[in-house]
Amino acid sequence: MAILDIARMGHPILKGRAHEVTNFDDPELHTFIDDMKETMVHAVGVGLAAPQVYVPLRIVIFFVPEGRDGGPAVPMTVMINPVIKPVSDTMEEDWEGCLSVPYLTGVVPRWTQVKYSYQDVDGSLRERSAEGFHARVVQHETDHLDGVLYPMRMIDIATLAFTDAQDEDDEEGQDREGESSDDASEEVSDSETSAPAL
Ligand code: NI
Repeated sequence: MAILDIARMGHPILKGRAHEVTNFDDPELHTFIDDMKETMVHAVGVGLAAPQVYVPLRIVIFFVPEGRDGGPAVPMTVMINPVIKPVSDTMEEDWEGCLSVPYLTGVVPRWTQVKYSYQDVDGSLRERSAEGFHARVVQHETDHLDGVLYPMRMIDIATLAFTDAQDEDDEEGQDREGESSDDASEEVSDSETSAPAL
């Protein structure tokens, strides 16, 4: 196993359309997926797409941590050649981060409910439904396969922020409130600073 370098926004590998995987018997495919998993864990991310590690193939890995967004946890999943369909036109906005856009976070609209299909590491076709954070992760990662980074999906670019600058703002806010800071304001700042790296 190996920890791979992660491409950052601006590199051409993140701008193109990645290619479908057709040969599931290739031992190098399985070694590469193991390397992706190790790289994602090392980078403390919850999702990673192959173009982010300079490989233009339609491969994504992700998981949903326990308690995230109040929804169920989803174990580590390898999606190859994924296809997403929205269940309805309803979208919701939430904060996102990206391992290829380090130090930044922004508010991104995503479909709230999707169905998606993909092939697993053996090439078998799988189908799932997802909502909330699970749906968000799948959309973010699949975008990577088509050269789309989350800032390109943002409606209000004014929400783009350095995560540590948000922390500073929270601290100033708490100073102004003195010792009377209430639980509600802490909940908001917690969610603002916990944008997942995808
Ligand atoms: Ni990303």
